[in-house]
Parts: sequence; structure tokens; C-alpha cells
Amino acid sequence: MSQMPDVRSEEYKSFIEKYLSETCFCHSQEPQQVLFSAMRYSLLAGGKRLRPIFVFDFCRMCGGDWQKAAPFAAALEMIHTYSLIHDDLPCMDNDDFRRGNPTNHKVYGEAMAVLAGDGLLTAAFSTLAKASYNAETKIKAVEILADCAGHLGMVGGQVLDMQSEKRVCTEQEVLDIQERKTGALIQAGCMMGVLAGGGTGEQLAAASAFAVKLGLAFQIRDDMLDVIGSSADLGKSVGTDQNKNTFVRLYGLEKCEELVQSYTAEAVAQLDSFSDNQYMKSLALSLTNRKM
Ligand code: IPE
Ligand code: IPE
Ligand code: MG
Ligand code: MG
Ligand code: MG
Repeated sequence: MSQMPDVRSEEYKSFIEKYLSETCFCHSQEPQQVLFSAMRYSLLAGGKRLRPIFVFDFCRMCGGDWQKAAPFAAALEMIHTYSLIHDDLPCMDNDDFRRGNPTNHKVYGEAMAVLAGDGLLTAAFSTLAKASYNAETKIKAVEILADCAGHLGMVGGQVLDMQSEKRVCTEQEVLDIQERKTGALIQAGCMMGVLAGGGTGEQLAAASAFAVKLGLAFQIRDDMLDVIGSSADLGKSVGTDQNKNTFVRLYGLEKCEELVQSYTAEAVAQLDSFSDNQYMKSLALSLTNRKM
């Protein structure tokens, strides 16, 4: 995460790493040990931990105790990790590397990778339910997370992504794919952060609008990195998106560079609803030229 604004990013990142490592899937008495190791294999393999960072920092910007939001952040990272395990399967993107390691199905086999994803998805909601917030806050968080992750959000976007492989999509169709497959989980993170921090309805709406725009910038950059990035930096294979509908395919790299900048500027404009927003502004800007 060398390009991200460092001290606070590192604090958030090491906090969530420790939390995940110490609290997730350590049941040594259960016979289905291999499932737990498959789940931990992908969950603890690193990654930028951006979605937990969004939870923590939106909570902090609303005046909340960000460490208390750890179960929300962990739940989201579990769902994100499951989405990556399934995204890499032979029946989907068929990728061999993720987060610098062989993909889950390469190590544990396809059936176990499917089940590890299922386990992570389900555990996310039990983790969230154990958070130290009142019932109303937790029910709202469950609703946001389920809506963003499910058929209306990430899963829906993955369906559109798969369906679009054999044809060339319009700009609106690509926007529909990206808002769902990538934007929705970022949106869940920003909105759950506001919820955890006791933010206002106006702040919840601003966090949502920020995330939609940032999600687009983030996925366009991801698609650019498939062409201009290195697998050593990214920890995943490059050059694998030839049949995918991306803005790179529609408009080329140069125009994508501009789109990443302009969507990020639109995202950052939403942060005026938050005081002490300097960190989030610089984080968003630093993602425009990320290499990993
Ligand atoms: C990868 O997400 C999948 C996309 C939505 C583009 P990240 O780039 O956040 O992956 P990690 O969590 O850092 O591995
Ligand atoms: C992934 O999009 C989105 C989800 C996992 C939901 P990509 O397929 O572009 O992500 P990478 O490039 O494999 O990380
Ligand atoms: Mg994919
Ligand atoms: Mg993929
Ligand atoms: Mg990609």
C-alpha cells in the first residue's frame, strides 16, 4: 500500500489484519479443519483492505470510535474475499493467482473453493450480528450489506459481467456492470461506516454517492492495470480481460485515465458533508494512479 496516505492507512490495515487473524475460523476442535484453512488461506492472504478502511474512516469522520466498527469491517472483507474466490473459479474468470498466491481452487480444489466462499459469506452475517451496537443499527447494517452483496449488487454485477463476454456493450451497460460488481461493496463499506459512527441521513447519502463514483474509478483503474500493470505488483495475472467489457476496450487507455480522474473528482466532491475529510480525500486521489 505504498502509494496510499501512509500512517493512518497502516494503522487501519494492521488493525484489521490482526482482528481477522485472531478472531476468524480458528476452531481447532472441529473435524472440518480443511474448510477453515481454505477460508483463512484467502482471507489472510493480504490485499489492500480498502473496504475495511472505508468502514473505519467513514465511522471516524462521523465522530465514532472506529475500532468498535471492526466486526462491520471484517464482515465486509469476508464477503469481498468470497467474491474473489468465486470470481477466480474456472467457471468464471479462471484465474490462477490472487493476492500473490495460487488461487483458492488451485490449492484446495474447486468444490472446497466454492464451499470456502459459502462459508465466508455466511460467517460475515454472524460476525456483523455480534458487533457492539444496538439492534436497530445492526439490522440496518445487515440490510445494507445484504443488498450490496446480493442479487441487486455484487452478485448481480457478476452475472452481467459473465453475460456480456460474447458481445460488445454500450457505455451504459458497462456502467451497470461496474456499479454492481465493484461499486456496491465499496458502497456497503462507506455506508456501514456512517452507520457505525452515528452519522446523519445526509452523511449516509453522501457516503453512498461518494462510493458509487469511487467504485467506477476503482474498476476502470483495475481494468487499466490488466493492460499496463505487472502481476508482481498486483498479485494476480494480467492480460486476462480480452473478452471482457471494460472502458479500456470501449475508449482506450488515455480516455480511461481521464475518466478515473473525473469520477474521482466527483466522488471527492461528496466529502464536503464530513469534517476532517482530508485523509479520505487523499486516499481517493492516491487510488487514481495505484499500481496494485
Ligand atoms: C479486486 O479488488 C476486485 C475488484 C473489485 C476490482 P481489490 O483490488 O480491492 O483487491 P484486494 O482486496 O486488494 O486483493
Ligand atoms: C471482480 O472484477 C469483481 C468481483 C470480484 C466481484 P474483476 O474480475 O475485474 O476482478 P479481478 O481483476 O479478477 O481482481
Ligand atoms: Mg471478474
Ligand atoms: Mg476476475
Ligand atoms: Mg479485473
